[in-house]
Amino acid sequence: MGKKRRTDSEAETEVKEPQNDCELIDGDAQKMKKKLRKKEKKRNIEKEDYEAKEIPTLSIAVPGSIIDNTQSYELATRLAGQIARAATIFRINEVVIFDNKSNADRDYNVAKSDSTDEESGAAFLIRILQYLETPQYLRKALFPRHNSLRFVGLLPPVDAPHHLRKHEWGPYREGVTVKEKDSNSGGTLVDVGLSKHVIVDQELEPQRRVTVAMGANRNLDSDLPHQIVSSSKPREEGQYWGYQVRYAHNLSSVFKDCTYKGGYDHIIGTSEHGQIIKSSDLKIPSFRHLLIAFGGLAGLEECIEEDDRLKGKNAGDVFHSYLNTCPHQGSRTIRTEEAIFISLQYLQEPISRALQS
Ligand SMILES: C[S@@+](CC[C@H](N)C(=O)[O-])C[C@H]1O[C@@H](n2cnc3c(N)ncnc32)[C@H](O)[C@@H]1O
Repeated sequence: MGKKRRTDSEAETEVKEPQNDCELIDGDAQKMKKKLRKKEKKRNIEKEDYEAKEIPTLSIAVPGSIIDNTQSYELATRLAGQIARAATIFRINEVVIFDNKSNADRDYNVAKSDSTDEESGAAFLIRILQYLETPQYLRKALFPRHNSLRFVGLLPPVDAPHHLRKHEWGPYREGVTVKEKDSNSGGTLVDVGLSKHVIVDQELEPQRRVTVAMGANRNLDSDLPHQIVSSSKPREEGQYWGYQVRYAHNLSSVFKDCTYKGGYDHIIGTSEHGQIIKSSDLKIPSFRHLLIAFGGLAGLEECIEEDDRLKGKNAGDVFHSYLNTCPHQGSRTIRTEEAIFISLQYLQEPISRALQS
């Protein structure tokens, strides 16, 4: 209330007529200063808002080579499905799939592949992870047929909170823009997996995945326009909203090409050669963007050796902590997909302590 009055009186001062030329110049300068101050204040509020909304994120990095080591398409698909389920169960926000390519390979594009192509392990893994993260009702529109997807129907769904069924209502729904326009308003129509498409208040090209705020009115016949929001909005409200998938040429690119502002501020490497610390004793510092890295058949140490930028370094120099999350293992090897579940469970408590600190 007090704030509103102050704004009103500021507006009054601004429209006051100047008395002479000199006052006009001074008055204009004053006005300008006031405007600048206001702008600055608004900018600071927006910045604070943005910073306040910057929610901590969890990322995992997994080598694409684990797919190359499988014996069949079915097994490769099952392995990719296990990673998608682990990422969803443990509310992972980003999965980075890395190769062991040299920097010279900059133009390699993991997304460029014909539907009949034999893909690299990384491309295969990325395609299946993205497919499983996408709500079922959007897949047909967003994923053209591809050889790599031929066994995906055998996988259990990830059943994430944004995979809403037809009869379920939530504050947000994932949708895809369709070609047809609304016949009355000419507005963009979005398929959000309900009995009727919703209209959104933005002009958008077809086949774009969007997050739609559904509002409280469940009557789809009302044709009231809905709003498209940032895909991070549900997360800002505490909902888990799936993971992003990113490709990295090699281990150092996982860190270097981080898309989060300021990069990862805490990086954990996992290995049977890592430190043994009881989960209850492990202290993770308060973080904004935490990354947990997993190796392939020969572990993260080999990934370091194969990387031109990291070669010669110790795992201790590359990661803030290097952990053995399953001491006294009975099997001589723990596979990467098993280690992901074991390590994410081991890290759950230390992570929630870090988030509370
Ligand atoms: C087949 S193992 C690689 C074995 C390798 N000697 C190593 O460094 O652990 C594949 C991956 O599983 C994870 N892993 C295996 N055993 C682990 C353990 N005891 N603790 C934590 N992570 C483990 C690591 O990420 C490792 O790179």
